[in-house]
Amino acid sequence: MAQHFGRITDHPILGKQEKRKQIAIYFDGKEIIAFEGETVAAALVASGVRVFRHSHKKNEPRGIFCAIGHCTDCAMQVNGVENTKVCVTFVSEGMQVISD
Ligand code: FES
Repeated sequence: MAQHFGRITDHPILGKQEKRKQIAIYFDGKEIIAFEGETVAAALVASGVRVFRHSHKKNEPRGIFCAIGHCTDCAMQVNGVENTKVCVTFVSEGMQVISD
């Protein structure tokens, strides 16, 4: 399987990834390479980010859990909007993503 920036680009069942426009988003002020049509969570994971926030009670690290918008483990601030579930939020150029 071919990979590009931590992404699978040639899947044995799904085939080759179509060419997509590369854009930049910002995670806690750091530039992250993303591709149009992918979620913020996908871009972050492909860039090596595993901790998305910390739990309120025990301050434990949280990352992707359900990946379909049903839990709140991936909630972050996106473009000033608190509690945005980044696993179901698509990237856009210059997007500002802030962890807790
Ligand atoms: S990982 Fe569960 S809502 Fe995003």
